[in-house]
Amino acid sequence: MNVTEILGSPEEEYSNFVYVVAAIAALNGLLFGFDIGIISGALLYIKQSFALSTFLQEVVVSGVLVGAMLGAAVGGGLADRFGRRRLTIAGATVFLAGSIGMGLSPSVTWLIGFRFVVGIAVGVASIVGPLHISETAPPSIRGSLGFLQQLAITLGILLAYLVSYAFAPTFAGISGWRWMLAFGAVPAAVLGIGMYFLPESPRWLVEKGRDDEAREVLSRIRADADVEGEMDEINEVSEIESEGNLADLLEPWLRPALLVGIGLAVFQQISGINTIIYYAPTILKNIGFGNVASIAGTVGVGIVNVLLTVVAILLVDRIGRRPLLLVGVGGMTVMLGILGLGYDLPSLSGIVGYVTLGSMILYVAFYAISLGPVFWLMISEIYPLRIRGTAEGVASVFNWGANLVVALTFLSLIQRIGRAWSFWILGICCLAAFVFVYFRVPETKGRSLEEIESTLRESTFVGSGGDSGVTEYERDVRE
Ligand code: BGC
Repeated sequence: MNVTEILGSPEEEYSNFVYVVAAIAALNGLLFGFDIGIISGALLYIKQSFALSTFLQEVVVSGVLVGAMLGAAVGGGLADRFGRRRLTIAGATVFLAGSIGMGLSPSVTWLIGFRFVVGIAVGVASIVGPLHISETAPPSIRGSLGFLQQLAITLGILLAYLVSYAFAPTFAGISGWRWMLAFGAVPAAVLGIGMYFLPESPRWLVEKGRDDEAREVLSRIRADADVEGEMDEINEVSEIESEGNLADLLEPWLRPALLVGIGLAVFQQISGINTIIYYAPTILKNIGFGNVASIAGTVGVGIVNVLLTVVAILLVDRIGRRPLLLVGVGGMTVMLGILGLGYDLPSLSGIVGYVTLGSMILYVAFYAISLGPVFWLMISEIYPLRIRGTAEGVASVFNWGANLVVALTFLSLIQRIGRAWSFWILGICCLAAFVFVYFRVPETKGRSLEEIESTLRESTFVGSGGDSGVTEYERDVRE
């Protein structure tokens, strides 16, 4: 069985090269996930090396989040100006240099500075990967390919857990954290070198008036498909538009898309995923597991995150984005309810401990099929070409901002109102996310990016759910 059969799409529509482009562009997600995963492990030892206060520990962790907000803010515009490929190579270079810098930091001030620099690269990676993938993918498998970015994020988190283990002080001494952080240079080098050999996004090339190059790229990735038809479709959209900017995003016809991007960005974070990703070992210890069992449980959470993302990849172009979101967010809500209940009961030993562990793992599983991948995919699909990079940047800034707020407030929330209510508040946020998805998020399955754009122009964006799996130009060609 080959990849095309698994994804269940007509073979003649595209060549296997499209998978290579998507897989390498998705490595942007690996950098991003690695950074999220590595710091919780490394922090234990950085804290000893520099005798850090709690406040400085928080600054070391959130330095990347602040940098990522900046990276996402400028990355979208830069992607529109310089192209997806060049920006990826620049981002990978910054990540590589920043990783080595973190590893060599002589003081905590240097370390925080380099965390900020790496954060900028992470913010850029968070938008340029999905953008590049969605603009090269054929509509019928754009969802699956787009999810590769989230798969790479989850693999990055898992890789980080394994690297933390390999360089733990038992093997590498107290300065093991330096090797952990510097290891980020390896995936960055792979991304930079891999991207060097890849073509630019055909849609961006058309936008820049470089039609011949775009045609050449399309014939490499589309095999026998109708390259001219797709060129016409892209050109048609590109012609009626001039290059957009931030102010254009506020135009009334774009508001529904803006709202979906920002809404999903914020809900992805305030539904609490990173409280589990960052604090899983602590939570497990609290419910009565020993040290080793807590670490094993954390790796288990990482593996479930990866595996369910694979399940989502297999489903997204068949059942669509909305069903995944609704089932996933609904499941997350229920699991947070049970998690809170577990903490509310007097004894956490025995069966209650296992129910809590089970609900935590299922919560991650429901996240991995819904808000995790669908957010990053949708923000690369729903905006018009001329402002796609900028608009995706705005959604991403909100995502990193919400991530920062949760990271800085969750522990004090627990201190003030207790664990049970902290998880229930996250559950209420999930419930709000469910209502939001139900009323505001359209189905984008099986449509070309240009078709999605026309629903915005015709004010049929919300509540639209085309999905014959056949694009307009394909219909024209068949007729
Ligand atoms: C989110 C991250 C999160 C990760 C977990 C990503 O989509 O943006 O904040 O840590 O998923 O898998």
